[in-house]
Amino acid sequence: MEFHDREKELKRLMRIAEFEPHTIYFIFGPINSGKTALIQEFIRRLPKDFAVFYVNFRGKFITDYRDFTRVLFRFESGRLEDILKGIVKSSTRFLSTRGIPVPEDVIDLIFTKKRTEDVFEFLEEYLSKVARDKRPILILDELQVIKDIKINCMLIYKLFNFFIRLTKELHLSHVFCLTSDSLFVERIYSTAMLQGRADYMIVDDFDFETTKEFLRKYGFSDDEISLVWKYFGGKPIYLIKALENRENLKEFCEETLEIRFGQILDSIYELKKADKELFSRVLNLFEKITEDGIKYTELSDEILWCADKNILFVNPIKRVIKPQSKLDYLAIRKVIDTIKI
Ligand SMILES: Nc1ncnc2c1ncn2[C@@H]1O[C@H](COP(=O)(O)OP(=O)(O)OP(=O)(O)O)[C@@H](O)[C@H]1O
Ligand SMILES: [Mg+2]
Repeated sequence: MEFHDREKELKRLMRIAEFEPHTIYFIFGPINSGKTALIQEFIRRLPKDFAVFYVNFRGKFITDYRDFTRVLFRFESGRLEDILKGIVKSSTRFLSTRGIPVPEDVIDLIFTKKRTEDVFEFLEEYLSKVARDKRPILILDELQVIKDIKINCMLIYKLFNFFIRLTKELHLSHVFCLTSDSLFVERIYSTAMLQGRADYMIVDDFDFETTKEFLRKYGFSDDEISLVWKYFGGKPIYLIKALENRENLKEFCEETLEIRFGQILDSIYELKKADKELFSRVLNLFEKITEDGIKYTELSDEILWCADKNILFVNPIKRVIKPQSKLDYLAIRKVIDTIKI
């Protein structure tokens, strides 16, 4: 599928890349809004003097330091000098999508000493060497996977310290962190050590115009576009599924809503059994929530519950909570109607 739009976001990313690195960028947004697709398009458009190291933690089982480094690095045969030479001498933009390439003997350094400091010192030197000829960009997707890992202290904070060093202090490498876990973003946002050292970029679902253009590109009529927008808003993944299900669009929309409704209903009935008070507070919140979201003053237990169940998305920068998608909003309304009866 051809990449659609996001010109504004891409322009911003390009501008960031042109400048010297000075802050860590956190790219966040609702589930399936197109964060990974955006960053991949950004990588494709980068000029040849960049070296991109993309690490995706999704689906990786990480419980300790060893697992972490195994995802961060990709072990290759050959000497470090040769690997580095390969990176800086390549006449195109260098891209590694499966971690940072290092020789196998680096395993010794990493696994025998078991100190994160050693890994970060090694990486700093590595990136300095790359930076002699190319502009390094480090991208970590699904960073929330490692949010709770402890190695003496929290790994994530050590990592942030290292990123601050790479960006603000050394101006050595750009760092982009992606996540769809809005509570994790909230935690990052209120972390003192990141004050003034991090910037945030939201990637939301498409707006109506962009959605219309997208669907029109594939021949959808105005009626079909209205129907899709009514159920799914501008969530890219659903738009693609709508294209696939054009033959029975109406049923597809209704069925998809029915499924989401059932999931939320199951969760809420489970909650009713476990915690009656929280259950009624969640229902109150369901009553209050609007399609475009509402301001919050504090992250109450009911908000946390809904965020944890991926029903609501928290935007800590705007201090707004909203349904994860249009579909979630419609499902919430149906849940309220069902429970009232
Ligand atoms: N601008 C776009 N043009 C075309 N397809 C897109 C676009 N953005 C996203 N998609 C498609 O929508 C789907 C979801 O996108 P993607 O995986 O990038 O979302 P995400 O925000 O990274 O999701 P998650 O919250 O799971 O990390 C993918 O199949 C992707 O190819
Ligand atoms: Mg993603």
